[in-house]
Amino acid sequence: MTIRFDDRVAIVTGAGNGLGRCHALGLAARGAKVVVNDLGGSVDGSGGSSDAAKAVVAEIEAAGGEAIANGANVTKMDEVKAMVAQAMDKWGRVDILVNNAGVLRDKSFTKVELNDFGFVLDVHLMGSVNCSKAVWDIMREQNYGRIAMTTSSSGLYGNFGQTNYGAAKMGVIGLLNTLVLEGAKYGIKVNALSPCAATRMTEDIIPENLLELLTPESVTPALLYIVSEDSPNRTIITAGAGTYARTIINETAGKWFPNEDQTPEKIAEFWAEISDPATQKEYTSGNDQTTNMLTKAANGLGIKI
Ligand SMILES: NC(=O)c1ccc[n+]([C@@H]2O[C@H](COP(=O)([O-])OP(=O)(O)OC[C@H]3O[C@@H](n4cnc5c(N)ncnc54)[C@H](O)[C@@H]3O)[C@@H](O)[C@H]2O)c1
Repeated sequence: MTIRFDDRVAIVTGAGNGLGRCHALGLAARGAKVVVNDLGGSVDGSGGSSDAAKAVVAEIEAAGGEAIANGANVTKMDEVKAMVAQAMDKWGRVDILVNNAGVLRDKSFTKVELNDFGFVLDVHLMGSVNCSKAVWDIMREQNYGRIAMTTSSSGLYGNFGQTNYGAAKMGVIGLLNTLVLEGAKYGIKVNALSPCAATRMTEDIIPENLLELLTPESVTPALLYIVSEDSPNRTIITAGAGTYARTIINETAGKWFPNEDQTPEKIAEFWAEISDPATQKEYTSGNDQTTNMLTKAANGLGIKI
């Protein structure tokens, strides 16, 4: 079945360059009306001009699609609200939000300035919060919404020099986990993309002969899938160079200890059993963890539940 976005309105942040541009083109090519947002700064977030967003709108229009350019800074709630109002005035709804805007200020933890740490958190995490918040009630009222976060292997697994970026990129997963729960009865699904692509953001990091495999075009299909009508929910999809995978955060079943054995020594003694990956499971809310703990304790103590 062909995935289409006819009559859907999408906002893609940071869509003047790299992945966001490719996502915007991909959504428009399949029928979506697209707000191409970009504040037009450099990789470290300095400067700004709306030329990049306007150029992407021109590309979409040349291919027969519909788009409008927006220069909002995702860290500024008044500008984000105005962007959403622009979409509502023009098309009357917002079905899809792609939180893609991002910056880098890489430095080892020893050298990183707290200002730079805060700046990176602000763009990735608060930018995603602001945009999600600005469309949330609209999506609830429509009883339909698809939100994509953009996470990163740097957040999921770590990357030297990227404490700020990694923390921000894991932050959006925390945001996603609860938005999924709160959006469920309003037809809102929230997923995350963990991309790998050669863009201006990665050109200094990846060897040149491999860079050409890492096209944004090989990532965008994963984004289109997670914002489609029959998308999964609460899913982290990774995409790069034509490989698509799913990241799952799991927890082992664990082992219950009676009061007298609740000691660090017992934990050390049974560490292999406690951390046995064969027992791992995916939880879909914090309550699942509490339920596991209380069920084990009740069973251990012979309490009926
Ligand atoms: N390229 C990769 O391999 C990779 C890997 C993991 C995650 N990511 C993430 O994917 C997203 C896109 O990255 P990219 O590689 O295409 O980078 P990019 O620098 O090419 O594009 C990012 C865009 O975001 C815009 N932007 C920055 N701050 C903004 C703000 N405050 N408001 C609005 N727009 C803003 C920039 O102007 C730029 O056009 C980012 O969130 C990035 O962290 C990229």
